[in-house]
Amino acid sequence: MPNLSVNIGTLKLRNPVMVASGTFGYADEFRDFINLRELGAIVTKTITLKPRQGNPPPRTCETPSGMLNSIGLENPGLEVFIREKLPLLKKIGVPIIVSISSEDDPQEFIVLARRLDKIKEVAAIELNISCPNITPHATRHTPHAKSVQRAACSQLIAQDPEATYNLVSAVRKVTQKTLITKLSPNVTDITEIAMVAQNAGSDAVSLINTLTAMCIDVEARNSKIAMVTAGLSGPAIRPVAVRMVWEVYRKIKIPIIGMGGIIDTFSALEFFISGATAVGIGTANFINPRVTVEIIEGLRKYLQKNNINSIDKLIGSLRCKS
Ligand SMILES: Cc1cc2nc3c(=O)[nH]c(=O)nc-3n(C[C@H](O)[C@H](O)[C@H](O)COP(=O)(O)O)c2cc1C
Repeated sequence: MPNLSVNIGTLKLRNPVMVASGTFGYADEFRDFINLRELGAIVTKTITLKPRQGNPPPRTCETPSGMLNSIGLENPGLEVFIREKLPLLKKIGVPIIVSISSEDDPQEFIVLARRLDKIKEVAAIELNISCPNITPHATRHTPHAKSVQRAACSQLIAQDPEATYNLVSAVRKVTQKTLITKLSPNVTDITEIAMVAQNAGSDAVSLINTLTAMCIDVEARNSKIAMVTAGLSGPAIRPVAVRMVWEVYRKIKIPIIGMGGIIDTFSALEFFISGATAVGIGTANFINPRVTVEIIEGLRKYLQKNNINSIDKLIGSLRCKS
């Protein structure tokens, strides 16, 4: 049997397949479809300090080979998460990675991290500094204008090296847990932010979050999304994500969790070969709720067929002609 286990910081994963934040709820939603214990790790929907209602509908629409979403970080807030969601997650028996973000104040990341640091069953913290769905420019179309405008800070962090450094190093000081920084593709040079996250003490980076995009109903001349802009995910973004993983892999030493448009074993393999240590499966969960376990089995078969005894050997194994 080939060895599928990988390390991310102090985390030891039985296999390198996890779910991408926001596409798997708090896992209970998928219990009827798969044996959750088979997953490498579970990343929760991003939580914030206070509950958030999220953005007004319509919040999603289909696009060629993908989808737009503008959920706006709807979540029950830290205390309800700990009281109602975490007990079920703990029972699963795989590492739980809690994704956190800030509604309107980077200081909240520190409060969240400090509290989660004390909870034994939280294996790692992912800093979502890259959510594109709380942007200020659509505000005049919505009654949520003020809160949206205030919330713009967490979009800006992953686009600003200094803000990224300050946030990651501040969170690093308050937690011993494995720290993952989730990067945005909506930048000129993602390697710059990845290096800053590493230098500030992040144990790993995950990439990519969604690409800011729009989709228009031409008859009504409306955006199909209430907030006008939204995040594009699914196979349409995979070539961009693979390129970014490859660029980042050549610049940093910490592990990369690669995601963006993975729908099957072959698309997951593209990420390992370009440099990812683990992969996150997002939009594909909505199409096939069993996709994660199928990919785990598919990776095993691929390694066996190619006489590779460990997934390690595949990571960053791209053969470059130039
Ligand atoms: C409906 C939806 C909700 C999402 N919510 C979050 C979130 O709460 N936090 C986060 O870090 N990423 C969120 N994402 C981004 C995904 O985790 C992932 O980075 C992105 O969708 C690319 O992967 P995919 O193409 O496999 O979906 C969301 C994506 C979708 C489609």
